Amino acid sequence: MVMLRNITVQVADDYAAMSQRAAAIFAAEVKAAPAGVFGFATGSTPEGMYVELAKLRARGADFSQITTFNLDEYYPIRPEDAQSYAYYMKQRVFDPLGMVKTNLPDGTAADPAAECLAYEQKLADAGDMAMQILGIGTNGHIGFNEPDEVFSCHAAHVPLAQSTIDANARLFDDAALVPRHALTVGIHSIMMAKKILLLVSGAGKADILAAALGGPITPRVPASILQLHPCVTVVADTAAAAKLR
Ligand code: F6R
Repeated sequence: MVMLRNITVQVADDYAAMSQRAAAIFAAEVKAAPAGVFGFATGSTPEGMYVELAKLRARGADFSQITTFNLDEYYPIRPEDAQSYAYYMKQRVFDPLGMVKTNLPDGTAADPAAECLAYEQKLADAGDMAMQILGIGTNGHIGFNEPDEVFSCHAAHVPLAQSTIDANARLFDDAALVPRHALTVGIHSIMMAKKILLLVSGAGKADILAAALGGPITPRVPASILQLHPCVTVVADTAAAAKLR
């Protein structure tokens, strides 16, 4: 275990070990706050952790009382679309873990700006978030807060960076169908979580993880803002942690 100021980095041997470690940390938080508010991410990185959480549920862990808020959703997209984050969450998280008090930005909203405003308000009204799960983009994004001149404070309807569109293309049959926009919570909501659990896997994330944790705090690397959060746990596999000093 490496301590970087307020950031604890746990290095796991591989993806499976990272997933188990992260699931144990998350489950302990839910045990401490069984009806708490928790923030969820989609993407490839936390998939293994969600499988591990389902195993913990089979052994008696109860996730049914928590309230969940996802970071983001493509826009526009329908929840029944297999590529939507609503679908991902239903299949991999909400149904397997028995969660019913769930929230995602609405990819079908007629007015995306109004939807962002309403989602952020709902999140604020829900009270303290016990823990926010995060992944990191190869460009340093968290949620879909892409590299920019300034940190994007509030929830917003955003264009996705070309590198994000390229990375997401692996999940679509036709590259032309990869969404160009998303609805995302802003940096402010992420930073308001009492604890952050950042999962990082693979050699392709080693440079950006090192930049985020050890480089300058800059909106060019949105995840670098986490250096200012009081309580961050990073669970990284050896490949992703390779460039940390
Ligand atoms: C997903 C999200 C994104 C991902 C990031 C990493 O809800 O907010 O920030 O966490 O793009 O994605 P993967 O894990 O697929 O590499």
